[in-house]
Amino acid sequence: MKRKAWLAAAALAVIAAGTAYWMWQPAIAPIRPLAAGDFAPDSVSRGARVVAQGDCMVCHTSATGAPYAGGLPLRTPFGTIFTTNITPDTETGIGNWSLAAFTRALRHGVARDGHLLYPAFPYIHYTRMSTADINDAYAFLMTRTPVNFKAPDNQLLLPLRFRPLLAGWNLLYLRPGPEADDPSRSAEWNRGRYLVDGAGHCASCHSTLDPIGGERRPAFSGGNIDGWDAPALTNLLNTPKPWTREQLALYLRHGWSSEHGAAAGPMGPVAHSLSQLPEADSNAIATYIMSLQQPATTPRAVTPAASDQARISRGAALFSGACAGCHSSEAPMMAVAGRPSLALSSAVASDRPDNVIQVMLNGLPFKDSAHATFMPPFAASLTDTQIADIAAYIRADIGKRAAWQDVDRRVRTIRKENQQ
Ligand code: HEC
Ligand code: HEC
Ligand code: HEC
Repeated sequence: MKRKAWLAAAALAVIAAGTAYWMWQPAIAPIRPLAAGDFAPDSVSRGARVVAQGDCMVCHTSATGAPYAGGLPLRTPFGTIFTTNITPDTETGIGNWSLAAFTRALRHGVARDGHLLYPAFPYIHYTRMSTADINDAYAFLMTRTPVNFKAPDNQLLLPLRFRPLLAGWNLLYLRPGPEADDPSRSAEWNRGRYLVDGAGHCASCHSTLDPIGGERRPAFSGGNIDGWDAPALTNLLNTPKPWTREQLALYLRHGWSSEHGAAAGPMGPVAHSLSQLPEADSNAIATYIMSLQQPATTPRAVTPAASDQARISRGAALFSGACAGCHSSEAPMMAVAGRPSLALSSAVASDRPDNVIQVMLNGLPFKDSAHATFMPPFAASLTDTQIADIAAYIRADIGKRAAWQDVDRRVRTIRKENQQ
């Protein structure tokens, strides 16, 4: 009994000391601004690739701002966090950050002056990056044009404005440092895991989050981000057409797959970043992701409930007016561009209607003429009920799956959230 109490007390003391240690981190001395000549040109060009792998620009650029100058609002259940300026401006950016300070931010989530960074910055993944990749990313960012811009103040729940609390979060979720290669796997698999778990931070969107924003295990079981479903990455054999490694690699390179459609919503910019990587890297990511797949099961066809029939026929009529011109099997677009039928779309097969609703509201931006994935937005021309009716029709008649629950409420909520 006594011994147990002692052990518990000792464990508590260790946790308290660890937390205290992590709460207060020293500042790292500022450096004088560096010049382009301070970096080897090939390190800078390798750094461009690392920064693309990490999507750094996607988060650190606002809708109207300069690249890497920050200011993009990230909405979290705890409030809004604005990304910071990571151009080499000495006043508002990271111009006076040494390589040591930059490395500490990526590996431990600590800013140069010692304050703890919010995990909306995915340092729990960037910590897996190799020292060489971090050095190259630093060389690339420090040779960008400095931009003087300060992001607006964060709007967070009161207790969370006290950053030292993040030390407790880090104790739970941060395992600093790179992961050793698994010698029983191929070099390609290890490269894929390195990119997915590290710079690619795929799990930060494709995993469910617990109430304090930590990623639940097992990873990649599907998450929700900005009102979009990020499907499970472990269930790619359980889609109407099972994914192959080749299709996955092509999807990652082009943001589009002839069997599965386009990368929409928050996946769009990710695919755009990934398109800048060498082919070997998208192949490696595909090899690793395919090794995580659960076995395929046979889906059962479902006959819609009689009570849903009226809604489904209203949806069918609306679909033939607004959508069939592009999406019916006879539509010229389907034949010319080799488009996948909506029956193959994972948005339609998903357990939640979110992505079908989002695609209808927002459409898809024009990408490039090779895979002209343009779809107009319908937010202004269709009412909430019409969108819900069309969703019910697509799900029942094209997807042949059980009706979605709560479609009306989801349409209302998603539309409201998009307007914020
Ligand atoms: C998912 C969005 C997201 C991505 C992707 C992202 N960041 Fe950030 N980053 C943030 C947020 C949010 C902050 C601010 C956190 C805070 O204020 O506590 C931040 C802060 C930082 C900081 C600290 C800057 C300062 O002034 O305190 C550095 C350095 C940084 N990011 C570098 C990077 C690099 C390098 C990459 C790519 C490898 C990257 N970030 C990708 C969201 C992101
Ligand atoms: C910023 C959040 C975010 C990140 C980071 C992210 N994804 Fe996604 N991903 C999404 C969303 C949202 C979707 C659903 C949109 C769609 O299907 O068009 C998606 C869709 C996908 C799909 C299609 C799945 C299907 O069933 O159709 C694949 C494959 C995928 N992501 C792989 C990856 C990989 C690999 C990475 C890391 C290199 C990654 N994603 C990183 C948000 C993200
Ligand atoms: C101008 C042509 C056009 C019209 C009109 C159009 N779409 Fe699309 N839609 C597209 C294209 C292009 C894609 C990209 C995916 C692909 O290649 O199939 C797409 C994709 C989709 C997806 C799949 C998204 C994904 O992530 O898998 C859904 C669902 C969808 N459309 C529903 C609709 C509905 C519902 C309507 C009518 C309200 C509609 N579309 C009208 C062109 C169109």
